[in-house]
Parts: sequence; structure tokens; C-alpha cells
Amino acid sequence: MALNQGAPDWWRKAVLYQVYPRSFQDSNGDGIGDLKGIEQRLGYLSDLGVDAIWISPFFKSPMRDFGYDVEDHRAVDPIFGDLNDFKRLLDAAHRRGIRVMIDLVLSHASETHEWFRDARLSTDSRYSDCFVWADARPDGGPPNNWLSIFGGPAWTWEPRRRQYYLHNFLSSQPDLNFHNPVVQQEALDVARWWLELGVDGFRLDTVNFYFHNVALKDNPPSGRGRTQVVSESNPYGFQEHLYDKNQPEVLNFLDRLGNLLAEYPGSMALGEVGAERAWADQLMEAYSAPGRLQLCYTFDLLSDGFSPDHFRRVIGIQSGTPLWRCLSFSNHDVVRAATRFSRDESEAPLVSKLAMALLLSLPGTPCLYQGDELGLTEADVPFDKLVDPYGITFWPTFKGRDGCRTPMPWNTGPNAGFTTRDGVPWLPISEDHPALSVSEQETAESSVLTLVKDLIRIRKTELGFAAGEVRFYEMEDGILMFDRVSGEDVVTCVFNLSRTRHTVQLDPGPIWSIVLGQQGASIGSNERLELPPLAWAYLKSGSPDFNSAP
Ligand code: BGC
Repeated sequence: MALNQGAPDWWRKAVLYQVYPRSFQDSNGDGIGDLKGIEQRLGYLSDLGVDAIWISPFFKSPMRDFGYDVEDHRAVDPIFGDLNDFKRLLDAAHRRGIRVMIDLVLSHASETHEWFRDARLSTDSRYSDCFVWADARPDGGPPNNWLSIFGGPAWTWEPRRRQYYLHNFLSSQPDLNFHNPVVQQEALDVARWWLELGVDGFRLDTVNFYFHNVALKDNPPSGRGRTQVVSESNPYGFQEHLYDKNQPEVLNFLDRLGNLLAEYPGSMALGEVGAERAWADQLMEAYSAPGRLQLCYTFDLLSDGFSPDHFRRVIGIQSGTPLWRCLSFSNHDVVRAATRFSRDESEAPLVSKLAMALLLSLPGTPCLYQGDELGLTEADVPFDKLVDPYGITFWPTFKGRDGCRTPMPWNTGPNAGFTTRDGVPWLPISEDHPALSVSEQETAESSVLTLVKDLIRIRKTELGFAAGEVRFYEMEDGILMFDRVSGEDVVTCVFNLSRTRHTVQLDPGPIWSIVLGQQGASIGSNERLELPPLAWAYLKSGSPDFNSAP
């Protein structure tokens, strides 16, 4: 049974936490994190104050894309444990009031999936139409110009069947054909199977890729071509993805999924919507219409944008619309925020604190990626240690995703407490990380971890940031300032995103006080807020009860 506690829309007020299981905690010394390891660390997650965890895929898989290539959607891969380990983890999490969301990868399967092994042999296979097949063009080429995100054409020739099959990612991740009712039914059956087991929800991998255009029309050029750095080495951005994803048929499927979720009170789904800026909001609005998905996961804060204008736009989209999005600064696919937004390493702790204070002050549902709460920086993984095929292909323009996936540092002992003394972590532990480990930070008053615990606590309690409106101030360059308004309650949030000191003149009428803020942020005479570079503060005005700066 899903955790039946609190309101059915618990996800609106929740703080989510993404666990990348390979790198969270290894319990058996094989150098790869596992389900028992997650269970051992539930106390940590509970102290942190998160309401739900999203666990990246732990299903049976050949691990070409580290679990996002599923062989059997109903089985736990032995490297992570077994189904009993999952049931124990789920029960233990529920006992602590933590909900568990699993990562359903439905858009594609692994080439080792039973259906594909059969379908690739012949057009007579009973699973023939469960994948997307097309004949060669008369010149032998693939049926159209679609590209794989991970490099090269989105089509691979299958000599046994003498046809091409579609894959938006690796060639070992054949695309499932959602136009086939059998595929849709199986996707719903898989979801039901896990709901019956008691999971509280799903993160839906690449939900906007479920359907393709059946006429297999060519995508037109985007016109963005070589102007974008990533596109220089990856032509995927050269195209406008009109036909290989974002197809309207997905809405009917999401209605069906919504009906299924409604049978399990308190369950929910969070859809990952990776789409070009111009369309993303429209898609998310349609996907999260009533009866469909509860939440969509936006890429808005996963970019390099670190300016007041950028954040104003992102926050502005959220406020004033019924669209409730899930926001994150880091995940297992992008360079960690502490590095992405810092000009050099020395800035990383300040940048991390500011990013967490910003994220946890926003409307929407915040999602922390493991290690965000420690201010972990991107690990520098040398080419000969890379395992991510995406990074290996595009090195060095794009170094792939290994640098954000290295193991969690729990302490300063052998292997940072991630695995046993003799265990060999599947990815190297960054030399910089033991100093940022949990044991180093949990008793330090000024650590990122201590701050994040405070931020989560006050977001949910006294500040009530999970609800309410946003009112922006027109500010000088480098400063982002807005009010979070909930009924009579107003909290003013000010962030200095620049590398220079700023003085912000507050409304001189009321008495102002700092509820929580970066060390060095202070209110001087005449209600002037002093903000050193990269400092921030949550302020209240008028109430003599809030007089103490931490
Ligand atoms: C996941 C990636 C994965 C891809 C293909 C995503 O968006 O987050 O890690 O490689 O889907 O499944």
C-alpha cells in the first residue's frame, strides 16, 4: 500500500530527493551502491527532512545506460539486490514517513528485453510491432533524418529482420512503439504491478518521447545549428524535433495512466519533459492537466543560467498559473550546480548555499539530487576512467555524466564510507569530496548540510514557501528580490547573484529582520540590507517576533 498519510496532493508541499542507487551506499563491498545501502541511510534522509525519494532505475538491465536500458521491468537487477530488498526498503521508508517513487523507463527497452530479442529476428515475431521498424530507403539509407541524442542516426539496421529500428538514445535502447495498444497495456500493467507492491509514485523517464510520428516525416532544420556549443559536436540540436517526440497522442495515454493512478489514492507521477524551451511549458501544461500527471520535471534550472533575469523568467512561469512543476538544480545527467555556477572552486560552497536557498524558496516542488545538500562539486573523471557512453562519444566538448554520478562521500575513512575498505567504487571518488562528506558537515554549524536542513525545515513550517504567490521587485543588476506571499504572511527573499557587494534599500517603514541568511548579510542603519558577493537573506518585516539573525 502506498503511504496513506496526509493530503492526497502531498507532492505539492513535499521536498523530493533523488537517489542514484549505484552511487548512494554500497552494502556488500562490490563497489556498486544497492537497495540495502539505501535502507541503511534512511535515517540520514529522515534527518534531512525530505518527504519522498525518487530512486533512479534498479531494474534488471545490461547497464549500457546504467539502468535506463531495462531488460525486465518487474525484476530487480542482482547488483542492487532482489525484490525482497526492495520491499524491505519500501516498508522501512514508509515507517519513517518517507514516500518512495521509482523511475519507470517506458519509452524504450534494452536490446536484451525478451520482446526485442524475439522481434529483431523476424517480422513474424509476436512482438514484431512492439518496436518501431522501417524498411531501408531505395539507396539503403535509414527511412528519415532522425538523430539519436547520444550521437549518430536514430536508426540501426537489423540484418536478421532486414529493417531499421528506431532508438532515440543508444542503439541498445530500442524505442517501444506506443502506437501499438499492446505496448500501452504493458506499460500500464508494469505501473500497476509496482503500485500493488506499494510504491507511492513514479518518475517517468522521457515521457515526451513515448510516441513518434507514424508517417516518419523528416524533422526540419532548427536554424540553431553551429551556434550552440553542444551542437558543435552533437548535431541533435540542428533539428527542430517536430516528429520524433512531443506527439499529441501521448495525452490519451496519460489520461489512461491518470485513471490508473486514481485507483491508488495518494500515488502520483512526475514526468521528465526534456524539450526545447519554446515548447516545454506548453507540453508540461498539457501533461499535467487534471487527470493526467501530477507533476512535470522541468529542465529550466539545469542550464547555465545564473542571472536575475533567468530566474525571474523561470519563477514567473510557475507563479500565477495552475501549473505546478518540479524544480531541480542538479541531477544524474548534468554538471553539478556547485561547479556549473562557480567561476572557480573557491566559490563552490557559497554558490551551493545560494542555490539551495533559492530552490527552497520557490513555488513548485523542489527536488534535491544526492550530494546537493553537501555542495558536492563535479568530479573530474579522466577519459580512461569514463564509463558513460554519451561522454565517451562526445569527449572532450561534453565530458558526459560520470562527473555528477560519483559515489556519495559519507565520511573521511576508506572509500569515503561509500563501500568497504577493499571495495573498488565503480567510479572514482573525487579527491575533493571526503572533505565535503556527511560526517564532516553534520556537526559544522556553517556547513551546506546544516543550512539545507534548516532551509527544508523552515520551508515547510514557519515560512510556508510550499504555497503562496511570488511578487517581484525591480532591482539593480545582479540582485534577485521577491516576496513570497501567503495570506497575511510575507517573506522577502533577496539574492546577490553577483560577485560584488550590494546594498539594498529596504522599505524604510517597518522593522526588518533576517529570518535566515548567508553569513555576512546584515541589516544596517536606515534599513539597508548589506549583501556580500553571492550572499542571500530571507527577511520579514514589521513583526518584532522575528528579531534574531542566525
Ligand atoms: C535519463 C538519462 C537516460 C535517458 C535515456 C533520461 O532522460 O535521465 O539518464 O540516459 O533518459 O533513458
